[in-house]
Amino acid sequence: MSKLRVHNFTISLDGYGAGPGQAADHPLGVGGLSLHEWMRATRTFQRMFGKEGGGTGVDDDFASRGIDDVGAWILGRNMFGPIRGPWADDTWKGWWGDDPPYHTPVFVLTHHARRPITMEGGTTFHFVTDGIQAALRRATEAAKGKDIRLGGGVGTIRQYLQAGLIDELHLAITPVLLGSGEHLLGGLNTAALGYRCREHVTTPNAMHVTLTRQG
Ligand SMILES: NC(=O)c1ccc[n+]([C@@H]2O[C@H](COP(=O)([O-])OP(=O)(O)OC[C@H]3O[C@@H](n4cnc5c(N)ncnc54)[C@H](OP(=O)(O)O)[C@@H]3O)[C@@H](O)[C@H]2O)c1
Repeated sequence: MSKLRVHNFTISLDGYGAGPGQAADHPLGVGGLSLHEWMRATRTFQRMFGKEGGGTGVDDDFASRGIDDVGAWILGRNMFGPIRGPWADDTWKGWWGDDPPYHTPVFVLTHHARRPITMEGGTTFHFVTDGIQAALRRATEAAKGKDIRLGGGVGTIRQYLQAGLIDELHLAITPVLLGSGEHLLGGLNTAALGYRCREHVTTPNAMHVTLTRQG
């Protein structure tokens, strides 16, 4: 059966998954880019964007797990872009250029309908306006037996956590304080929802924690 997996979702020491004030020149909110320093340094990340180099080792092992056996993705609309409210036109096609690093169908949760966008390299963005269960159903069908990767952002992961639908959640906790922004776990009782810490490994760049759901 397909699993719903989160990988490489990075939070600051004080629990934020994005800084405040996301905009076109601040995709992760103000200060948020510092979260992903550990990830940018990995070979997996460099290869995702067609580049050479990057390190191997524990950080890279975690980064690469996130692309294994994934047949579809789910994103929130703010992870897809900085536009809010109704789409003014069809110009915005994500942050990632003509060949986004997904290479699968991607289901974007939004309240504002839009036609699918076919990109290069096998990525198609589908816009889902009828909620998280519908997005998961469509992604499961599209994944054809593979797993579904839940990319984020914060609000979207919180909804799937609250609904107990995430099977595996890998968090990278970075030694950065953001002070404000989008808080991942605040107000969520993950223990009561059945999540337990299955593994934790610390590197100089991040503490990797994997939560899985029991029962
Ligand atoms: N730290 C990391 O590793 C990481 C990873 C990925 C993303 N991020 C960051 O996280 C931030 C985005 O997180 P976020 O919490 O602001 O937003 P988000 O979860 O990406 O998107 C939230 C938006 O998606 C739509 N949406 C979500 N659930 C929906 C539902 N059930 N039905 C219909 N529409 C729904 C709504 O948009 P509308 O109502 O406008 O349609 C909602 O405002 C960005 O800065 C991104 O870069 C961080």
